[in-house]
Amino acid sequence: MEKSGLIIFSKGNGGLPLLKVHTPMSDAEIYLHGAHVTHFQRKGEEPLLFLSGSSRFEEGQPIRGGIPIIFPWFGPREGKLMHGFARNHPWELKEIDTNPDQSITLAFEFPLPAEATGFPKFSAKYFVTVGESLTLQLQIVNESLENLTLEDCLHTYFTVGEISAVTVSGLKGADYLDKVEGLARKKETAEQISFSGETDRAYLGTTATTEIHDAKLRRRIIIEKEGSRSTVVWNPWIAKAKLMPDFGDEEYLRMVCVEAGNVLENRRVLAPGNVSSLKMRLSTAGI
Ligand code: BG6
Repeated sequence: MEKSGLIIFSKGNGGLPLLKVHTPMSDAEIYLHGAHVTHFQRKGEEPLLFLSGSSRFEEGQPIRGGIPIIFPWFGPREGKLMHGFARNHPWELKEIDTNPDQSITLAFEFPLPAEATGFPKFSAKYFVTVGESLTLQLQIVNESLENLTLEDCLHTYFTVGEISAVTVSGLKGADYLDKVEGLARKKETAEQISFSGETDRAYLGTTATTEIHDAKLRRRIIIEKEGSRSTVVWNPWIAKAKLMPDFGDEEYLRMVCVEAGNVLENRRVLAPGNVSSLKMRLSTAGI
């Protein structure tokens, strides 16, 4: 058995800087662009994350798949980029640590781009731990003298065997805004959510662990979170997939997004000097 981890600095798609992380338990790939984790795979298992074969890999554009960091706003904002600017710019790698369990933690910082002008001054750090599971933590500090209002979301794309064989549990009883029906407010009544059309829901006021049950890949994906009051569930389905230039027409069959964050009415207001932390742990188990 391999004794220690290894990190390889290389060039990824589009020539963008890419870190390849190898631990005795798993492998991962992280682009500095967006501090974007595009790949995680436990030894002997299928990849955990979905990455589109049509993704762009360009400065100023988000990568389609993996784990885009959505910040400081979620969704559209008039005259501005969809889902904020954190996913469209390079982050800096600041530290690499090997933990006693042989997992590796990488710490990234976000040099503020021009779009941050006009925002109260903040700093953003992101910690990625690659091991038996994959753990992500986004930390924002309000460095200004006024309140900082923010939305954040780890917009995770999971690989699934076939969307019709997938259910998501853990959200029963939660209120959600249904984006497919003009943000209609509804209450989740299903123990297991299944997919048979475009699904785009922001579940609010929920801190629950969710689980993806994948009958085809014969695995469960467990999504634990801290510092998150919203869970977004998304699959574009047929018509929307066709409209997205950076997503294959058939790729909706092999992915589902279950995203942890604080969005819409769960947005956060950080007082001067305060810190917010959004954490997500992704693990797998057999069925
Ligand atoms: C989801 C939103 O989180 O992200 C959807 O709820 C949106 O409405 C999707 O379509 C993808 O957004 P984007 O900007 O990455 O195409």
